[in-house]
Amino acid sequence: MNFELTPAQQQIQARARQFAQEEVAPLAREADEKGEFPAHLVRRMGELGFLAGPIGPDYGGTGMDYVSFALVYEELGRVDSSVRGFLAVHAGLVSLCLADWGSAEQKQRYLPRLASGELIGCYCLTEPNAGSDAAGMESTAREEEGSYVLNGEKIWITNGNLADVALIFASRDRAARHKGICAFVVETNTPGFRREKMTGQELGHRASDHARIILEECRVPKSALLGGPGQGFKVAMSALDHGRLGVAAGALGVAQACLDACVSFARQRRQFGQRIGDFQMIQATIADMAAEVEASRLLVYRAAWLKQQGRPTTRETSIAKLFATEIAVRAASEAVLIHGGRGYSNEYPVERYYRDIKGLQIYEGTSHIQRIVIAREVIGRE
Ligand code: CAA
Repeated sequence: MNFELTPAQQQIQARARQFAQEEVAPLAREADEKGEFPAHLVRRMGELGFLAGPIGPDYGGTGMDYVSFALVYEELGRVDSSVRGFLAVHAGLVSLCLADWGSAEQKQRYLPRLASGELIGCYCLTEPNAGSDAAGMESTAREEEGSYVLNGEKIWITNGNLADVALIFASRDRAARHKGICAFVVETNTPGFRREKMTGQELGHRASDHARIILEECRVPKSALLGGPGQGFKVAMSALDHGRLGVAAGALGVAQACLDACVSFARQRRQFGQRIGDFQMIQATIADMAAEVEASRLLVYRAAWLKQQGRPTTRETSIAKLFATEIAVRAASEAVLIHGGRGYSNEYPVERYYRDIKGLQIYEGTSHIQRIVIAREVIGRE
């Protein structure tokens, strides 16, 4: 067992940290206030090799290992969950899913351009009546003379208004539940593909692009099918195994950011004639936070390492996502409290961490769903 990062992993971590601190962090507050995604960062992430994650040079990537990719997510999560969320969808849910399931032609057509940022990807699973129960989706795919015709509505689609390519899940036989679901790679300029901003203002991730997508007689060629007919649910779930690792690593980054902010504040803020970090109650909170951050880091890196070995990771990824997001919610809540009135204002970033982290506990499978996945793996099903 070796707990050291390799020299290559350390190099990627340093590159990701520098990019996050110097190019992402300075924009985070304004992007959050304006509700605008800093889209120019997409090409920069392409240049740095982050957009392709572990995809190899054949398709425009650097072939970094999964632990390195987790380090990239962690560093981005430490400064801005909206930017990290963009990457988890674009690379985790879209590119890696295409790499796993795409035909040679689909991979050649999309992966290199997704790697450079020329194209942006989104993943369309969630619907108004099918959130946690993904197999209950109502969108349909009708087979017709060499094509499929898609109809339905998708909501909460991260990157949906920016995307050039969408992975769309729809059923060709709703009575068959998950066995009827098909996955499609759809170019967003296809007639019948319509999108708009989600209504309402989100609690967090205010710089993220969240779309409602409407499919009306959206006709795609048979070659748009990703995986076989009826394999769409497995395609969707395997993509979530990638995406959830990105969320877990991002949550680790948020928790680390909360710890960093609390340590710095506890050292400089003085009350009752001493640093607040000299009070035992503050010390206990910070000590618990530090212990939980380290435990979370081990779970995230282990899930990433298992993925790199080509081993099954559904259980380990769900454990990492559940633990990392739950402890980060706690860390953010304590961080606001330790900062007192300052933590309640966006003058200090802990206010944004507190709003953003709730989203990580919900999207790509709520904590309830992660517990279901874990329990089924641990207890087994009859
Ligand atoms: N990899 C591959 N196959 C998998 C799998 C995985 N991780 N998980 C399940 N499967 C397979 C099963 O083996 C089973 O296959 P067989 O028919 O061959 O036995 C099949 O899929 C059905 O599995 P289940 O019986 O477990 O299906 P279920 O209906 O009980 O659902 C669930 C399971 C875990 C609750 C699942 O529905 C789920 O994860 N729900 C949450 C969905 C979610 O995370 N949504 C957020 C999406 S994010 C988004 O859309 C917005 C965005 O922009 C990010």
